Amino acid sequence: MFYSQKHLLQIEGLHPPEIGYLLDLAESYVLLNRSGKAQRDLLRGRTLINLFFEDSTRTRTSFELAGKRLGADVINMSVSTSSVNKGETLLDTAATLNAMHCDLLVVRHGQSGAPRLLAEKVDASVINAGDGTHEHPTQALLDALTIKRRKGRIAGLTVAICGDIAHSRVARSNIHLLATLGAHVRVVGPPTLVPPEAALWGTEVFHDMVHALEGADIVMMLRLQRERMSRGPVPSEREYFRFWGLDFKKLAAAKPDALVMHPGPMNRGVEIDSAVADDPRRSVIREQVEMGVAVRMAVLDTLSRGPGRNAI
Ligand code: NCD
Repeated sequence: MFYSQKHLLQIEGLHPPEIGYLLDLAESYVLLNRSGKAQRDLLRGRTLINLFFEDSTRTRTSFELAGKRLGADVINMSVSTSSVNKGETLLDTAATLNAMHCDLLVVRHGQSGAPRLLAEKVDASVINAGDGTHEHPTQALLDALTIKRRKGRIAGLTVAICGDIAHSRVARSNIHLLATLGAHVRVVGPPTLVPPEAALWGTEVFHDMVHALEGADIVMMLRLQRERMSRGPVPSEREYFRFWGLDFKKLAAAKPDALVMHPGPMNRGVEIDSAVADDPRRSVIREQVEMGVAVRMAVLDTLSRGPGRNAI
């Protein structure tokens, strides 16, 4: 088992052994983190730059913690403090970062494809921390780790991804990963928020929550991403909740042991009822955050060793 690439830009195109390698390594980091002995010297002397052109709390903190736990020097650059505000282009930023000899570059950007463009211009290994509506690979990996630890497998499970599919990079990365590992993926949402190409990704498309949730093992809710909508296709939050919001009534259609997930940040009362989100018997939302640190440690560890040098 191996991961042989220099960067982690997307899940699409990864093979099951590459995903399996990262998940197995992440699993060992979960145990290490829980043992309290996580401070290691693996990345001592290496520089990790968190380059965030979009707001983020959990993803940025998670990468920061992961880097620090492995001993890296971590620098956070956010758009409000960087010279991007002074009109510097993405490529000038890349040249500047290159001159700083950073080893690992974590990028979040509002435009799909920005991390790939940077990856072509910098020497560092680039990790996509979410680009536009394209992909968010570490989120899909942490979701898969959460599912695998709880259910013992991914293959054969029925996963319903619900809500604003159209604007969700989390949905795209998850669809690719779950389908690659053999899960049955369903997507459900209002017709305006489910892109027509969803059926081409090997998913089953629904426009009714109860039908989509019937017999599901995993119910993955998505945030309604208003900031990515040019005009509001959703009439009101109350109406959205009525049809697409997850409450116990709709959840009853899923398997009795179905797990509820959400990548955060949650719009409580819009896509998910607080009572469901906070129910420890059903919701694994906090566990997803814990898995996020372990997955990012596994990714930083793997990429820092360089392509072809990470066979186990
Ligand atoms: C997601 C993102 O930024 O794409 N959040 C995250 O990384 N935790 C999902 C979202 O913003 O809704």
